[in-house]
Amino acid sequence: MYIGVDLGTSAVKLLLMDGDGTIIKTVSKEYPIFFPQDGWSEQNPSDWLKQSIAGIREISEGYTDKIEGIGVGGQMHGLVCLDENDNVIRPAILWNDGRTEKEVDYLNNTIGKDKLSKYTGNIAFAGFTAPKILWMKANEPENFSKIKKIMLPKDYIVYMFTGISASEYSDAAGMLLLDTEHKCWSKEMIDICGIKEEMLPKLHESYDVVGEVKSSIMSDLGLTGTVKVVAGAGDNAAAAIGTGACGAGKCNLSLGTSGTIFITSDKFAVDDNNSLHSFCHADGGFHLMGCMLSAASCNKWWMDDIIRDTDYAAEQKKMDKIGTNNVYFLPYLMGERSPYNNPRLKAGFMGIRMDTTREDMSLAVLEGVAFGLRDSLEVARSLGIEVTESTICGGGAKSPLWRKIIANVMNLNIMTVENDEGPALGGAILAAVGCGRYKDVIEAKKNIIRYKETITPDAELTARYEERYQNFHEIVKTIIPLY
Ligand code: XUL
Repeated sequence: MYIGVDLGTSAVKLLLMDGDGTIIKTVSKEYPIFFPQDGWSEQNPSDWLKQSIAGIREISEGYTDKIEGIGVGGQMHGLVCLDENDNVIRPAILWNDGRTEKEVDYLNNTIGKDKLSKYTGNIAFAGFTAPKILWMKANEPENFSKIKKIMLPKDYIVYMFTGISASEYSDAAGMLLLDTEHKCWSKEMIDICGIKEEMLPKLHESYDVVGEVKSSIMSDLGLTGTVKVVAGAGDNAAAAIGTGACGAGKCNLSLGTSGTIFITSDKFAVDDNNSLHSFCHADGGFHLMGCMLSAASCNKWWMDDIIRDTDYAAEQKKMDKIGTNNVYFLPYLMGERSPYNNPRLKAGFMGIRMDTTREDMSLAVLEGVAFGLRDSLEVARSLGIEVTESTICGGGAKSPLWRKIIANVMNLNIMTVENDEGPALGGAILAAVGCGRYKDVIEAKKNIIRYKETITPDAELTARYEERYQNFHEIVKTIIPLY
């Protein structure tokens, strides 16, 4: 049996899968996120570890001697730094943190986008890891001087479990330290950041076994026997494995705290403006990705914190203006990554009048996120990439209404999968491949992934949403100079 772990932003989600791909159990354990200053976003790696251990204990009850492998997928780009005693030096700086504006400007404009793109296949975005290292160097020199190891969030779990500092290409590509095309650390970027290569983990393919769970952790986890740990993947690559978006020419949308569009390719490619991220996939190939920083989190914020009603389904039943809503929501609660690369952008509602209802505003939130994803799809289309269908996963994708809105706003056939467990399922599949149960991820996909439902866009609704998307775009263009 295999355990897949999805080290998310709001919680760690775990899944127990047997060798045939049947999901036996799932468990979720939450942890806090801290916003210590405007635009900052941090978490404690010790919370990730504590909850991952608690989750594995719970999920493996009754199967403690049957676990063969663990695969971890995790939130990307986070900076975790350890000192010489393997203590975490400061809280992890997360993927949706916007504090590195100065460093991003230095990287993109002083070093230059052309050079960055040549070294890594990407330019700097505020959430990426390299600008965070530069931020720490400039703002916390004492902490910076203590650094012995630099790792990504899920690599911290792998390190704590195995004692081996390992990473893999899908997540490493999001550090802006990897030569993505050639799959090795970039010497130039290491110099630019003022670090040493030995601080960075050893690189693997996602399905490679990097080690075994060490005995002290085996007893914490309550497991017996030998448990292998694979290198795992960034959560978006893991989600793509978990929805079958592997091999060339596939697309997956993820509607979690972030919203992403993930387009697979067997070749390395970069777009002229580097508007989309050019990263490695966990299947051994490559992919392009657009990432919006607030997706399902916009709805969570609106429902839980603002209108304070957690019955999402009941709220969505009352929405009667699909395609005719006059209210627009700009989903920039944490600024925006793709395609604007502007951590200072702010969210807002537009088009409110005296007769606007609460449900119109709730609907606008769902639509605004769909428009934000469409912005990244437009970049892909402008590069001549034809996307006509996509799988979808993540917490937000559980809403039939939101899926319908996305299918029509993006004019895509949207497919759901039977086990909508995204990155956690991807992690378990990578573990099964690493342990030899399947030859490769493609064979695992054929045996494990089953599609469930296809939502086809409706011509009339797509036309109405086309007009609304163009209006949304005009509004965004108008507010950008303010920030
Ligand atoms: C991708 C990104 C997010 C996080 C969320 O570039 O920043 O999707 O991985 O966990």
